[in-house]
Amino acid sequence: MALTDPSKRLEAIPPYMFAELERRVADKRAAGVDVVSLGIGDPDRPTYPHIVEAMREAVADPANHRYPSNRGREEFRTALASFYASRFGVTIDPDSQAMPAIGAKECIYNLCFAFLDPDDIALAADPGYPVYTGGPTLAGARPVLMPLVGELGFVPDLERMDRMALDSARLMFLNYPNNPTGAVVPDGFFERVVALARAHEILVVHDNAYSETTFDGYVAPSFLATPGAMEVGVEVFSLSKGFNMTGWRCAAIVGNADAIRTYWRLKTNVDSGLFEAVQLAGAAALSGPRTAVEEMNEIYARRRDLVVGTLREIGVVVQPPKGTIYVWAPVPEGHTSVSFAELVLEEAAVVVSPGSMYGPSGEGFFRISVTTPDERLTEGLERIRHHLS
Ligand SMILES: Cc1ncc(COP(=O)(O)O)c(C=O)c1O
Repeated sequence: MALTDPSKRLEAIPPYMFAELERRVADKRAAGVDVVSLGIGDPDRPTYPHIVEAMREAVADPANHRYPSNRGREEFRTALASFYASRFGVTIDPDSQAMPAIGAKECIYNLCFAFLDPDDIALAADPGYPVYTGGPTLAGARPVLMPLVGELGFVPDLERMDRMALDSARLMFLNYPNNPTGAVVPDGFFERVVALARAHEILVVHDNAYSETTFDGYVAPSFLATPGAMEVGVEVFSLSKGFNMTGWRCAAIVGNADAIRTYWRLKTNVDSGLFEAVQLAGAAALSGPRTAVEEMNEIYARRRDLVVGTLREIGVVVQPPKGTIYVWAPVPEGHTSVSFAELVLEEAAVVVSPGSMYGPSGEGFFRISVTTPDERLTEGLERIRHHLS
């Protein structure tokens, strides 16, 4: 074995997909090509001014310059509890049922180390956010995919899940509104998840990254609003997308108090918590006015309609999603996800994400993100229309 060989666990996961995509785009740009990226879902608009202002004040205060505690600032936890009460109708105890996380990605990854032993199983939505499979693999456990079935509204078919996998599963990763499909949770699904989790003693991790990014009057629920969910689950709430805060690394875990205590125990061995100034800015986001979020959603809805309209013009049958920052569309006949994404990159110099990057059930689809400024999005769509119609 060579000095710098990665561990077998690291070797077992494919290179992080966005890193791969970024490299290809960088190569093209280095060669002088003007590439329009509709790949990554990273809000293009700045964080809302009242949040930046709260950060400015907090960062100037030396009291916030020291090590944070992993339990989190009271201001952040109480703001989170008030937000969950008013926004979702969910009562959480800010002392035992809420804790900050350094982004949802950190939280999901560390939950794997907090709960999984070798040979344990983590059930992962497929297609899904890559950390649902990478996290368990790095923790030495085994991710088992739960294909999201289009005809069921992009949820797993809970009736047909492998009994053995259910019996060995310790975690189940779900996410609605869903990346990458844009699907919102169908009525009754969370109730069925709670029943299944109870029957098989599985901790449900609902990744709530997109609840604030919804359109056409749709209001996304919290998983924790489902009767019994607090007994079997936690929700990872990210401020990244809804509040344009991807760079700030601000998220929280809420729900089952015992599970949160275990996550805390793991984290005290791994990191030193979330910068307190960011927690205070996060509190300002959670307790601030909704207008900025609503204005942002109007922008996304308009861009979504632009994407859906253009795709339909070139013969791609696609439904406008009610939530998230993504349009999930089938690739034209005769293409795989990758061959279509490559065609679009080579012909139109536009990046779209091949659906297969999110898991085998994403094959046959591609994903467009609407987090690109209007002029660039229009330019990208015009190129797609010109080269592919
Ligand atoms: C489903 C999902 N979960 C989590 C994340 C990451 O969130 P955070 O920025 O809080 O780490 C993303 C980002 O794209 C996502 O799509």
